[in-house]
Amino acid sequence: MRKIAFINAKGGVAKTTCCVNIGAGLALGGYRTLLVDLDSQGQVTKSLGVQAGEGLAELLQGDAGLGDVQIEARENLFVISGGGALSGAKRMISRMDMRSELVLSEALENLRGYDFVLLDTAPSWDVLNVNCLFYVDELLIPVSMEALALQGIGDFLGRVDQVQRYREGLRILSIIPTFCDGRVRKSAEILEQLKRYFPDALWPCVRYNSKLSEAPGFGQHIFEYSKRSTGAADYARLAERLAKGT
Ligand SMILES: Nc1ncnc2c1ncn2[C@@H]1O[C@H](COP(=O)(O)OP(=O)(O)OP(=O)(O)O)[C@@H](O)[C@H]1O
Ligand SMILES: [Mg+2]
Repeated sequence: MRKIAFINAKGGVAKTTCCVNIGAGLALGGYRTLLVDLDSQGQVTKSLGVQAGEGLAELLQGDAGLGDVQIEARENLFVISGGGALSGAKRMISRMDMRSELVLSEALENLRGYDFVLLDTAPSWDVLNVNCLFYVDELLIPVSMEALALQGIGDFLGRVDQVQRYREGLRILSIIPTFCDGRVRKSAEILEQLKRYFPDALWPCVRYNSKLSEAPGFGQHIFEYSKRSTGAADYARLAERLAKGT
């Protein structure tokens, strides 16, 4: 069972879009996949058009069990929902004296039967994201190819480095360049910079594609909403890449 987070402290870089569509691609490829939403915006369930019942907040606070919170969104694709109730769970974690970074790991300890567990995270450095870094083994970092994209990334990677001292297994699997536009010079320049920083960990781009921004409004992933779009092609490629394990 591979445990992977989509994470970047910067907002709006396509963490949720990557999580939902790579997850959908894996599920369509026959991999049993669970999406866990750590964001109080609760966009994962909304993007897939499923009703969020009891979710991660109730699980973390001991008000619901693992069996209660896994919602089947599609064949092979399950969700543990996030949403506003997570603020209470975060307050609870912040008040703990000990092992506060392991609350998520303990809550998900008995999870079985998935090939992939993908975590969507909030654009912040909060207690849930710290918990996330203590649970997952691999990080996928979406970076948008726009001005200021690299701002804050050094700071973010420094924090990841700090956690890696306690968690040797934690590794950055890849950087996913998002909102790529071949016609825009800025996009190419940022990509060049990223190649210099991460020569071995840069994955293929996700191109700018309006279908990707429309799909969540219809409660559909990109392979349902527009399977011939460039967005579907890009996410199919990324899902395949992830499944291959490199
Ligand atoms: N390749 C793309 N082309 C066009 N629009 C996109 C693309 N990827 C994502 N979007 C849209 O951009 C917006 C931001 O994406 P998304 O919500 O996935 O980012 P995020 O990193 O999860 O944001 P947040 O930090 O708020 O959680 C959304 O409206 C999404 O539909
Ligand atoms: Mg998001």
